[in-house]
Order: sequence, then structure tokens, then C-alpha cells
Amino acid sequence: MKDIMLLLDTDKHPTPFDILMAYDSGFDAIIPYEEVEPTDVMDIVQDAMFSRGVRGSGSTTIFVGGTDVEKSRDIFQQAKKAMFPPFELSVIFDPRGGHTTSSSLVAKIEEALSDNGLGDLGGKNVTILAGTGQVGQLAAIICSSRGAKVTITSRKASKAKDIVKRIEDETGFKIHTAQGATSEEVYEAIKDADVVISTGKAGVELVPMEMLQKLEKCKVVADVNAVPPLGIAGLDVRDDKREIVPGVYGIGALATGDLKYKTETRILNEARKSKSGIFDYKFAFEKAKELLKKKASAREVLEFEPLEGKKLTVVFVQKVAKPSEEEADYLKSLIKEYDPDFAAEEMGNRSIDDFYKKDPYARIFQDAGILIYPVDISEYAKTSISAIVDEKKRLADRLTETYEELTSLSDKKNAEYVKAYADSLQAEYGEVKEHAEITVKNSWMVKGVLDYSKEFSKDEIVCLFIGGIAHWNGMVELLKSMEVGVKGA
Ligand SMILES: NC(=O)c1ccc[n+]([C@@H]2O[C@H](COP(=O)([O-])OP(=O)(O)OC[C@H]3O[C@@H](n4cnc5c(N)ncnc54)[C@H](OP(=O)(O)O)[C@@H]3O)[C@@H](O)[C@H]2O)c1
Repeated sequence: MKDIMLLLDTDKHPTPFDILMAYDSGFDAIIPYEEVEPTDVMDIVQDAMFSRGVRGSGSTTIFVGGTDVEKSRDIFQQAKKAMFPPFELSVIFDPRGGHTTSSSLVAKIEEALSDNGLGDLGGKNVTILAGTGQVGQLAAIICSSRGAKVTITSRKASKAKDIVKRIEDETGFKIHTAQGATSEEVYEAIKDADVVISTGKAGVELVPMEMLQKLEKCKVVADVNAVPPLGIAGLDVRDDKREIVPGVYGIGALATGDLKYKTETRILNEARKSKSGIFDYKFAFEKAKELLKKKASAREVLEFEPLEGKKLTVVFVQKVAKPSEEEADYLKSLIKEYDPDFAAEEMGNRSIDDFYKKDPYARIFQDAGILIYPVDISEYAKTSISAIVDEKKRLADRLTETYEELTSLSDKKNAEYVKAYADSLQAEYGEVKEHAEITVKNSWMVKGVLDYSKEFSKDEIVCLFIGGIAHWNGMVELLKSMEVGVKGA
């Protein structure tokens, strides 16, 4: 069954952004519908359900987008209404990227607070400047859901009040409003804020430097505008929790944008793979937070195809010597998310018994009932690597010792000369070792995983691979050189 996405957009020209991202995340086809009205939705969704049957519904995703916030909300509601069991589709709701943007923005703010020992959003005063656009409105909802006391500003107090009334009716959250038409009004609105968010129109400065420097309570500022001048002076688009004035940590548009991109990719992937489900801002926020939490145990997903007609997806997880409780939980969440057919890890110099009994990852997989395949590197491969690197290593080590001897004899001039030579040899040794490992060791590992995958009769196989970053790079390089399609690299 092909994975197909119907994009229901309120605009004349549906944005290529979501279309291209959906293709990159693995959809086989995307069908854009432009200038969609809520009254059109029932027919479109139900025809999509019936034409492909129950099984096909599971491979069909609806994406609701568009710049018209109100209309796209109605379209989303209509799409949900049109479905009934057993014909259920996955529905993504992210009009003009606003939901993934706001979710990533608030997740980054929480990260900035927590990284600096400033707690979480609970009880914090948050002011969202020009918070009447779709990013600002949704940021207000998410911050309120995290327990913050939120104020949104507008150049016109009545506009903010109308918007807040609707949000309150829909969500039950109490949100405050303030007029922010003049510099004095903006200062009044942010002077007691712990967090200041700027969601104004691109290219409009809302907080000048002298105002920022006067803020006594502010801990975090964040701006989604990437077009100069930025909404908050002193901030760079690339700032990722940089202390821009003493005690104030800044988040620029690209730091949020990077997380938004990853979040949207995850949502598209998950919606494509799951048979049904609603992928709205709540889901986006959870994903954005999860992605930030996961930085410690870096994770990437690769898809290799074709594999003699089969598709192999490798979810790569950075190995650490002793996985913390958090890392173990993360692995368990990946097991739940990807339902892997097997896990693979290098056996190293351990016996097979030791591997199964003592390896912390093996124990997690065994407990979850996942097959774990310890990839063994042959003696032949190990000998080849040693032969390539040993001689360089011996020479580099010898020179390092000589340098230490000369330093102890205070022969500074010769010591510097030997050190420079030793350093260059050490660097050369590092390069040779990495190259040998990529060409010999990782090819052995790739071969192991590919061979093991063949033992499964299914057409789509998922492997959770635990390894170091060199394995990851080596595997990607090798697969590409074998002309195996590698997605996600
Ligand atoms: N939408 C997205 O998915 C997305 C994604 C990434 C980044 N961004 C960036 O996020 C920001 C907000 O985007 P958005 O789509 O939510 O909102 P938007 O509609 O572009 O603007 C937000 C608010 O800015 C205020 N505004 C408009 N013109 C202004 C002016 N000349 N001076 C001062 N304020 C003005 C308006 O509020 P009042 O009329 O109430 O004052 C408006 O509601 C933009 O910088 C955008 O580039 C958006």
C-alpha cells in the first residue's frame, strides 16, 4: 500500500514547505487541495476513506494547513467529524507550521529555564508581544497549559481581548491582555515578566536594547522573527540559550526553527506509520520536548532500501558506557515507538555469555522481548585494522615518550620539535584508525545487520542499532558507496 497524504490548505498556493518535507519523510504521494472551505471537507475525507478500504485508510494521512487560522481550525474539526471506525485516517494539524513552531518555541524556553536552574514555566509571568498571530496565540495556550501566567499584547487592546475571549472559551485557560502600541506600553507589559516572547510580524523590533537592559525579572527572551531587525534587540537568530545581557538567556529564531524542523519530521513519520490518530499541537509539544531530552543520547533514523526487495529502517542510538535511568527510559520509549524486529550492537571483545548477561542494553532489550543481535567482527577484520594502524601508533607513542624525556631534561628546543612531530603523527594515526575502522570494521557491522535482516520474512524490517558516532558515519558512508538508498542521513 502506498503512503499517501492529502493536504487540505486554505491558501491559493499550498506551501511547498510541508509538501517537500512530507516527501522527504517518506510519503509516496502528496495531493494538495487549495482554497479548501470547511464545507468541502466531508466529501474529500470520506472519498479518501472509501476508495482505499480499511487497510488503505491506515496508509492515508490528512494534513490541514493554511494561513487562515480560523478556517483551518474548522477544516480540522470537519476532518475529524468525517471519520468513523473502522475507516480512520491520521490527521496532522499544523497550519503554516504554526503549531510545530509554537511547540518548539515553548519547549526551547523550558529547556533554557531548566538548564540554568530556573525551574519550569509553572507560576512564571510570561508576556507574549504581538501575541495575536497564530504563533503567539498557540504559544499562549501551551505556556498556560504549563502553569504560566500569560499576557499577550497587541497594538489594539480590543483585538487582544477578542482573541483571548475565544481562546478562553475553547481551552478554559485564563489569559491576560495588554496594549503594546507604544514603547512605554511594551515596557509596562514586560517589566515584571520572567519570560518575554516576541511573536510579531517579521522585521519589526519590539524590544530595543535599552528596554531589555532595564528588565529586572526577565530570565529568558525568545524571538521567532528571523528577518532583521529582530523583535528583540541584542539577540542573534542563531542564539541558543546565550546569555545576551547578564542573567537573560536568549533564544533566536533558528534555534526554534531547527527544533521545529525535527518536530515536523517526527510528526510526518509517525503519522505515516500509524494507522490513525490526531497529530495536533499537544502531540507536537510532546515531540519537541522529547527531541530536546534526547540530545544526550543522540539518535538518528536511517532507512535503507531496497534490501533485495525489503525495506530496512535502522534507528541509531548513541551508545554510552552506563545508560542512565533517563537513557534507559528513552530506549524503552523508542522500542514502543518503532516496535523493532531486532536490536544490534557490537559484541566487542566480550564472550557471547558476558554480552547477554552484562551488557546493559542487552538487558533492556531482553526485558522488552526484543531479539538482540551482537554483531561480531571477525578476527580477520580485527587483524587487518591492527596491521593498518599499529605501526603508526607505535611511532607516535615513541615520539610522545621522547618528548617527555626531553622536557624532563629541559631540552626545550628539541622537545618542541619532537612534540610537533608527535602531534602530527598522532593526528595521522587518528585519521588512519578512523579510516581503517570505517572501511573494515563498519563494513563488517553493516554486513552483519544486512545479513541478519534477511532472516526475517517480512518486507519491512526495523532495527535498533546501538553504537558510537563512528559506526553511524561509517555505516552511512559504506551504504552510500554500495549505492544503497539511505534516507535520513
Ligand atoms: N507562522 C509560522 O508558522 C511561523 C513560523 C516560523 C516563524 N514565524 C515568524 O513568527 C512571527 C509571527 O508569525 P505569525 O504568523 O504568528 O504572525 P503575524 O501574523 O505575522 O504577526 C503577528 C502579529 O504582529 C503584529 N504586527 C503586524 N504588523 C506589525 C507592525 N508593523 N508593527 C508591530 N506589530 C505588528 C500583529 O499584532 P497586532 O495587530 O495585534 O498588534 C500580528 O498579529 C513572524 O515573525 C514570522 O515570520 C512564523
